Amino acid sequence: MEIQLWRQILSPYELAVRELTTKFNHVIREHREKGLYSPIEHVSGRVKAVPSILDKLQKKKITLDRMEEEIDDIAGIRITCQFVEDIEKVVELVRKRSDMEVIREKDYIHNTKPSGYRSYHMIVNYQVETLQGPKPLRAEIQIRTLAMDFWATIEHSLQYKYKANIPEHIRERLSNAANAILALDKEMSSVRSEIMDAQNSSISQLKLVEDILNNIENLYRISNKREVNKIQDEFYRIYQMHDITKLKQFHRQLDIISEGYRAQAVTVDLEEQ
Ligand code: GTP
Ligand code: MG
Repeated sequence: MEIQLWRQILSPYELAVRELTTKFNHVIREHREKGLYSPIEHVSGRVKAVPSILDKLQKKKITLDRMEEEIDDIAGIRITCQFVEDIEKVVELVRKRSDMEVIREKDYIHNTKPSGYRSYHMIVNYQVETLQGPKPLRAEIQIRTLAMDFWATIEHSLQYKYKANIPEHIRERLSNAANAILALDKEMSSVRSEIMDAQNSSISQLKLVEDILNNIENLYRISNKREVNKIQDEFYRIYQMHDITKLKQFHRQLDIISEGYRAQAVTVDLEEQ
């Protein structure tokens, strides 16, 4: 097979990886915009490298012409979460989507692999549009916590280094590390509600400040500049107090002032007509 053909074959998978990455990143954004905690912490994706495809074909005794039917992870998406509890939320989110159809799920969270590997895998059907028309293909979505991802990344590098024949003493260390990761995830889960409260309040404070700044900017356009300067000074003063209640109060007052100006603007408009 020629290099040009590889590029042609892999091109729709490139597109799928880009689209899926964008879509899951948008899920994060939608949560932030609503001031909500996002079960997705980070998204990455890759198209399997040609040598890895060739190795897999050889290992599984698959012929090149069956590649697209037999290999599920030519397009691979990795979603990392802060907490084990978030994984189920992401799984639900993927199941509910109308733009991808789940065809297989592998739960290595409840069924840890002998290596110590933990992760939730979903194989989905996904369709991209190309110059030749719609192209259905498959993608593998791996969902895991940041801690599980840390372990898998290290273990993968070692597999690579030792060509899958990891020495026994290292294997044992990895197994110990996998247990430590399990314990770490459990510890984190036990403080989850506190961490989430802290994150939620910092997200909502960010949103509040953003709203206030937008309001001030709008006021600046339609009203007396000196007065808006005073309002802005007042905002900085309150912001430095680090008191969310005062900030919320200020936000409400600003809303009332803006309403007043808008009403005035409408009256002026009507009078001018
Ligand atoms: P391959 O393992 O990819 O040949 O296919 P499979 O049909 O056995 O699927 P499986 O769900 O076992 O693995 C799919 C992917 O999960 C792999 O390509 C890896 O990215 C990841 N994975 C599976 N097992 C391990 C493991 O023991 N260590 C690490 N680091 N990653 C793993
Ligand atoms: Mg495998």
